[in-house]
Amino acid sequence: MTQPNATGTLFVTGVGPGDPELMTLKSVRVIQQSAVVASFCKRGRPGHARSIALAHVGSNGSGQSREIRFEYPFTVEVDVGNPRYLAEMGNFYEACAAELAACLAQGDDVALLCEGDPFFYGSAMYLFDRLRSEFRTEIIPGITGMSGAWSRAASPMVHGDDVLTVLPGTLPEDELVARLQTSEACVIMKLGRNLPKIRAALARAGVAERAIYVERGTMAEEIIVPIVALDRSPAPYFALVLVPGRQGAR
Ligand SMILES: C[S@@+](CC[C@H](N)C(=O)[O-])C[C@H]1O[C@@H](n2cnc3c(N)ncnc32)[C@H](O)[C@@H]1O
Repeated sequence: MTQPNATGTLFVTGVGPGDPELMTLKSVRVIQQSAVVASFCKRGRPGHARSIALAHVGSNGSGQSREIRFEYPFTVEVDVGNPRYLAEMGNFYEACAAELAACLAQGDDVALLCEGDPFFYGSAMYLFDRLRSEFRTEIIPGITGMSGAWSRAASPMVHGDDVLTVLPGTLPEDELVARLQTSEACVIMKLGRNLPKIRAALARAGVAERAIYVERGTMAEEIIVPIVALDRSPAPYFALVLVPGRQGAR
């Protein structure tokens, strides 16, 4: 039974890659049962995680949760290397954590939504890191964007002792080339304006012919094409490249 002065639990929950049917039963239950549902979004936008979970949030779901939306001060406008980036994002995450701490302190459970899996490049980790020592936390895994993408592309990725490497597209071109050359299979995340550099790296590493571009995988607007046939640049944020490993039955 809940104690009168007990603090709430922070549930950091993955909501999967985009298709709402790829949410887990546990994530749905936690979202429906939490007093507060929090999510990140780009300024003036609904937010991907919230859009995925919408049917289960607030008056849409079976519960009556209060919603908190954290609008990023910027997304791609300020470069990660710019000193402003760390300082302003640090302040932003501090303010978000303080707002959630106030809810948790008064006994409310909080479901913090995260697209894909929370511990895989998810912003929710920055709040988890700030709150984990003070409050009970539970992490609910989600299907990652890359897993959704290779399933929709019907592209087996790694067999046997193949090595899979996950690369942020923000890495310098030479580093991308070196890593592409030393793994059987790769996933390149965070495309956006890095796309021309990534295409150059795929060509230099000799893997462009088997690379697959996946934009908004599992969502209604999904695009899946061989990267050599792609005629757009830059790419949107929700896009990745799959470089499948060795193919064929053994
Ligand atoms: C900040 S990371 C978050 C990853 C997320 N936590 C996950 O488990 O997939 C965002 C990057 O994930 C990739 N991504 C996530 N979901 C995707 C999807 N449905 N389709 C294509 N790319 C996706 C994109 O490369 C995007 O730039």
